[in-house]
Amino acid sequence: MEDVITIENLTKKFGDFTAVDHVSLKIKRGEIFGFLGPNGAGKSTTIRMLCGILEPTSGSARVLGYDLQRETEKIKERIGYMSQKFSLYDDLTVKENLTFYAGLYSVPRKELSLRIDEMIAMADLKGREKELVANLSGGWKQRLALGCAIIAKPPLVFLDEPTSGVSPTSRRMFFQIIRKMVLEGTTVMVTTHFMDEAERCHRLAFISGGKLMAVDSPDNLKRNVIQGCMVEVNLPDGMQKIKEIEKLPYVKECTIHGALLHILLDDVQNKTVLQKDLGCETQIITPSLEDVFLALARRQRLDSK
Ligand SMILES: Nc1ncnc2c1ncn2[C@@H]1O[C@H](COP(=O)(O)OP(=O)(O)OP(=O)(O)O)[C@@H](O)[C@H]1O
Ligand SMILES: [Mg+2]
Repeated sequence: MEDVITIENLTKKFGDFTAVDHVSLKIKRGEIFGFLGPNGAGKSTTIRMLCGILEPTSGSARVLGYDLQRETEKIKERIGYMSQKFSLYDDLTVKENLTFYAGLYSVPRKELSLRIDEMIAMADLKGREKELVANLSGGWKQRLALGCAIIAKPPLVFLDEPTSGVSPTSRRMFFQIIRKMVLEGTTVMVTTHFMDEAERCHRLAFISGGKLMAVDSPDNLKRNVIQGCMVEVNLPDGMQKIKEIEKLPYVKECTIHGALLHILLDDVQNKTVLQKDLGCETQIITPSLEDVFLALARRQRLDSK
């Protein structure tokens, strides 16, 4: 399949601080590509570079076949971008916002009313065209913002945390819309902090401290990143015991998940040893995506020390 984005050693420095550090990856046509990582990892900075809003310090990228440094304007005209703090005009109506963005993205005049109708249907805002955006709740605003970002039917869409701060129902509906767009041939790069959304992506990239730690499908990440036997334990004061547990010679990693600890053992045979050492039951679990990401973030922190 054809690569829609090719990034090579893309780097962004703010003064002495490196926000994005030699990131290289490829995204194929028709992929839902998830971009994950802790706060401040460099997700938005990468996306803003790929959209041509922020100039890279070094490295190169091709987006939709155009060179990011030399053909920025061509890229800007052809992509859709929904920023983390998306910008709708509160004092304009639903329809006026769509009309404004259609103008910005040069939607042909003869297609304008059809496109607006399509976006209103997609966002489930039929009958509310004349409502002021200020009066819409979070989930509706978010779908309208997506409508504004894709009104020109761009072949490539960047969505930066499009679902933060909205209800689970709205989030599910939002991802259904994304799936439909992708079936129609759009490529989507999306950042999220929600693991259920990450599971719905074809491939994921995990970035931490500006460095790309892993790129693969959710299933392959779960299979390959965590090597060993993972067990779950319910210990009172688990949080306080992490350091102590990590000192045990057969323990590779220990992370906290709500009230439970996930402990990665070098070998399944050490499960009984751990039970004796901790004085509690342990249960073998299949690592989740959250385990993968906690492990990768931890490794990056240790690497940078
Ligand atoms: N214009 C800027 N000037 C200086 N530092 C910046 C600038 N923009 C971003 N940074 C820093 O670069 C790092 C990466 O920021 P970025 O916004 O890309 O993170 P992120 O992965 O999107 O995080 P979040 O999940 O919180 O949105 C952060 O430490 C941030 O403070
Ligand atoms: Mg961000």
